[in-house]
Amino acid sequence: MKKPIKQLKPVIKWSGSKRNVAIELSNHFLTRDRYIEPFVGGGSLLPFRGIKEGIASDIIPELITLWNEIKSNPKDVANEYELRWNRLQNEGHDVYYEIRENFNINKNPFDFLFLTRTCVNGLIRYNSSGEFNNSMHKNRPGINPNSLKKILEDWSIHLKGVNFYNQDYRETLSNLNKKDFVFLDPPYGGTKGRYTTTKFDVEDFYNQLELLNNKEIPWMLTYDGSAGDREYKFELPKEIYKNKFYVETGNSPFTKLMKTSIDSINEAVYTNYKINNNLLVINNNLLVNDINTQLELI
Ligand SMILES: C[S@@+](CC[C@H](N)C(=O)[O-])C[C@H]1O[C@@H](n2cnc3c(N)ncnc32)[C@H](O)[C@@H]1O
Repeated sequence: MKKPIKQLKPVIKWSGSKRNVAIELSNHFLTRDRYIEPFVGGGSLLPFRGIKEGIASDIIPELITLWNEIKSNPKDVANEYELRWNRLQNEGHDVYYEIRENFNINKNPFDFLFLTRTCVNGLIRYNSSGEFNNSMHKNRPGINPNSLKKILEDWSIHLKGVNFYNQDYRETLSNLNKKDFVFLDPPYGGTKGRYTTTKFDVEDFYNQLELLNNKEIPWMLTYDGSAGDREYKFELPKEIYKNKFYVETGNSPFTKLMKTSIDSINEAVYTNYKINNNLLVINNNLLVNDINTQLELI
């Protein structure tokens, strides 16, 4: 499988998406027999994996059901979206809240897609009872169904060879070997309630990375970083990784939602293998060594 030359438009809008830096990051991927992504979210790296076979997983069940539908039945997904979108245009905002209520009872993946496409800033947000609770983005009608249909068909082609699983990342990591390459994009250390109701345990996560190191399985991780003048304090212990550099991933959707100052996020990228520093790519295409991307070799 060849990497797509152009970036696909997002099919599932996902907060914390690495879409802006997908090409840049994938230029440093290693090619192995299988590509593994245990925190797949909106899957912005999937089309750039460079090989056919992949495993993608996430803790959110409705997300994985939706990915499987997009992969196998893109036309059905397009039709289901169109039904809901037409109702929203004809009947108004109440339709959004009706669909949200249904979704919180049935976890229907098509309702889920519709909500992600029409909620405020596309922000996936659950309350402490696990209910999707973001409001409708007023004055934004959601993507036109014809445009989404084309995007769904493109993605379906690029997902052939990827198997999706709804499971904890530790389960996905437990069955790998050194012919695999792993891309990890977990929630920020110590955060909770953004995607799940449970806290993400960093110590446990570091242990998992060490287990991968022991098995000589190469991985890339996007992790801590800074947003505006805030630093996320979960720097990876030095002995776990080989390389670290920074990429600018864009503005924080969370501060945007809270209407505080718009923070620009610089995210740290770690690998447990040496990377080729001649290949640093800025703004998706230029092959340059830029001061915005600081390479730290150890
Ligand atoms: C930062 S997002 C990934 C974004 C993705 N790389 C993209 O470009 O759209 C982190 C993802 O990790 C998932 N997640 C959180 N805790 C998890 C766990 N324990 N096991 C598996 N997935 C988890 C969340 O549901 C979320 O989709």
